[in-house]
Amino acid sequence: MSTLGSTALEPFDLRTVRLRNRVVFPGHTTNFGVDSLPTLRHRDYLARRAAGGAAMVITEAVRVHPTSAGRDSTLGSYHPDAVRAYAELVGAVHEQGAVLLAQLMHAGRQAAGDSTRTAAWAASAIPWTHGGPVPHTMTVRDIDVVVKSFGVAARRMAEAGLDGVEVHLGHGHLLQQFLSPATNRRDDAYGGDSDRRIRFAREVLAAVSAELPEEMLLGIRLSAHEFLPGGLEPDDVIEIVDALSADFRFDLLHVSHSAYVGQASLSTQIADMSHGAAPYREFPRRFKQAFPDTPVVGVCRIDDLGVADDLLGAGDADLVALARAQIADPDLVRKTAAGRAGEVRRCLACNQACIGRIEHSLPLSCVVNPAAGRSVSMLRCGGTPWLPPGGACSSWAAGLLACGPLSPPHGLGRR
Ligand SMILES: Cc1cc2nc3c(=O)[nH]c(=O)nc-3n(C[C@H](O)[C@H](O)[C@H](O)COP(=O)(O)O)c2cc1C
Ligand code: SF4
Repeated sequence: MSTLGSTALEPFDLRTVRLRNRVVFPGHTTNFGVDSLPTLRHRDYLARRAAGGAAMVITEAVRVHPTSAGRDSTLGSYHPDAVRAYAELVGAVHEQGAVLLAQLMHAGRQAAGDSTRTAAWAASAIPWTHGGPVPHTMTVRDIDVVVKSFGVAARRMAEAGLDGVEVHLGHGHLLQQFLSPATNRRDDAYGGDSDRRIRFAREVLAAVSAELPEEMLLGIRLSAHEFLPGGLEPDDVIEIVDALSADFRFDLLHVSHSAYVGQASLSTQIADMSHGAAPYREFPRRFKQAFPDTPVVGVCRIDDLGVADDLLGAGDADLVALARAQIADPDLVRKTAAGRAGEVRRCLACNQACIGRIEHSLPLSCVVNPAAGRSVSMLRCGGTPWLPPGGACSSWAAGLLACGPLSPPHGLGRR
């Protein structure tokens, strides 16, 4: 008789790395960043999930160019200190036995420029939501800038020692805005038929691949269905991946969904409690059938390792990504492996303190786990989340000296 989690807890070989199990902690924005750099808060938050058993950790979206920053607290790859800061994350996650991938992304029209005071860039001048700002239609020169920025970002992640990168082609971000007929109204070499809409993604992937050493993994994150009138559906996205696979060897296909249009993203991409378990599992299944030789990651409301076993056992995916379930309980994997699944603090799928706070530009928290993202290092640093050279501050006073931009000591309580 199989025990709970027995399939999910099996090791899995990717091209160059052995994962100790099949559980991924997928990329999710935390608003823990300072000056586009990862912080102590990131380091402890991600390392804590690795210590709890996740085999693969993926950073939140690392924005490859300042036109994608949106808020002050997002992550980017363009700061001169980026390599050092990301290397700190690598060390901490590796120490806990997990591999670390960086998610590379440009948000395109979704990058609200309120704090950075930049216009959002997009394939065409179509706002991302009703009443949203009208984005700037990218020129061919802008496209070239972003392509090169993806290449630079990949090089920096390689220098920082990451195990791979995940290029974001989904969630309605810039690359999907070019891929989709719903958001790409161009009539130049980057718009029109499917081949021309794919061109930008192809150039980005070529720039990224050129910078990755052989041993580094290359994954892509996709939205299998945009849920948009006139948007991409699974057959279209499979066709796109098929066309790209002729030129690139993907180590991972991470199959998500939705186009992040208004509030629809909250109810589908980050499915709330009105959905049942694994409501979009048909999407990774479709990709597994279309690309049987490429590892596929399934995601969304895979709330425990029982659901994970079911999905993996049915052949719907090779790996499972659990975001909110591991925000709510970083030890979900470890407890299940020890036969203590009943002790797992379960995510409610309320979306209140995780994505709800992100949408209000506040740092991530969790209704059932308010300790999420509030680490010992933060306390030592007097509440500042800055990541100083050499790691954690050893005392409050050291924090004052080393931590750069300061939050007041009571800042921790306020947030
Ligand atoms: C707070 C929050 C922020 C997110 N930010 C990102 C992100 O930066 N990049 C990304 O690809 N997905 C992001 N997601 C989506 C998750 O990776 C995942 O696909 C989604 O939460 C569904 O999985 P779950 O049911 O296991 O939480 C975010 C999700 C949450 C809850
Ligand atoms: S706030 Fe916590 S419990 Fe609610 S959906 Fe987010 S992770 Fe789950």
